[in-house]
Amino acid sequence: MTDAAPALKDAFKDCFRIGVALNQATFTGEDTNAVAIVKAQFNTITPENVLKWESVHPEPNKFAFDLPDQYVAFGEKNGMFIIGHTLVWHNQTPKWVFQDDKGNELSRDALLNRLKEHISTVVGRYKGRVRGWDVVNEALNDDGSMRKTPWYRIIGDDYLIKAFQFAHEADPAAELYYNEFALDKRGKRKGAIALIKKLQTAGVPVTGIGYQAHVKLETPSVAVVDKVITDLAALGIKVMITELDVDALPSGKSYAGADIDKLAKYRASLDPYTNGLPAEVQKKLAERYRDLFRVFVKHRDVIPRVTFWGVEDGGSWLNSFPIRGRTNYPLLWDRQYRPKPAFDAVLQVGIEPSPSPSKSSK
Ligand code: GLA
Repeated sequence: MTDAAPALKDAFKDCFRIGVALNQATFTGEDTNAVAIVKAQFNTITPENVLKWESVHPEPNKFAFDLPDQYVAFGEKNGMFIIGHTLVWHNQTPKWVFQDDKGNELSRDALLNRLKEHISTVVGRYKGRVRGWDVVNEALNDDGSMRKTPWYRIIGDDYLIKAFQFAHEADPAAELYYNEFALDKRGKRKGAIALIKKLQTAGVPVTGIGYQAHVKLETPSVAVVDKVITDLAALGIKVMITELDVDALPSGKSYAGADIDKLAKYRASLDPYTNGLPAEVQKKLAERYRDLFRVFVKHRDVIPRVTFWGVEDGGSWLNSFPIRGRTNYPLLWDRQYRPKPAFDAVLQVGIEPSPSPSKSSK
């Protein structure tokens, strides 16, 4: 990269916003290297953790807004499109949410009241400032059926409709998304499409679907990624790439998802690059990113945002998932905050003349 090279956000300005998930050290300014990269390269941000229920609402009558306030202030100071992540999820949600003060399971009405209070307080606080919310995260099993989470069990499958309604009431101008992983699996994609149709039929304003895109070096193929985007766009909504990273390590089993309940055992053979990424893998990673971005650019008429799940390799969740303690290389900057060949490859796609957008929306 030369000094004259444009930033990612500029190279893709006619296609989509370029985003990144921020950890606390970055939006508080402590990780100065990451801050410099984020300010220079990105124009939209997502909080890795601080707006998840357990962080922002740790106890029944206690909201913890100090860190989210700093996150939002960072985005405003740098003129960024600020995303909120996430209002309703089965993970990183305390047990008390589903219980009364005696520890008994809440009724449907009581849980709906709690959900409404949470959403109106959190969304209300950042009204007009957080521009888009991941309202519900990961409501589906990989076969496309509804996950039997406490939300589903206690409220029923209209919990999503309610969550979107509460969010819309709290900030009518905010964009509202459903966010999910492994949409490259046919059954799950079908389930997601049915779920969005249900929301649309109920008249709730769903702006878009987040395709997390935690992918691997070889899978899913770009043809499948292309199909995922086409199928989702046919719903007439936006398709956001929300959590992009490329797992460069062998998986050791067929599991390929982002279900953080699932952890496997460490084996040295599954952690082959502790002393650095071999040149040929580095090259493969760059080509993988290039190919993915070519697909995203092709669908730029329906993709308003592509967000990476982290700035540099050392901070990625993929060092501890699905196996703890490995050395992974999923992002565009290395552990010394130097841009990798994958960065140059992505940038190049932004600079090269792109064919006219596919007509992926109806
Ligand atoms: C899911 C969630 C994210 C994050 C990742 C792993 O994809 O949506 O918030 O927790 O898992 O870090």
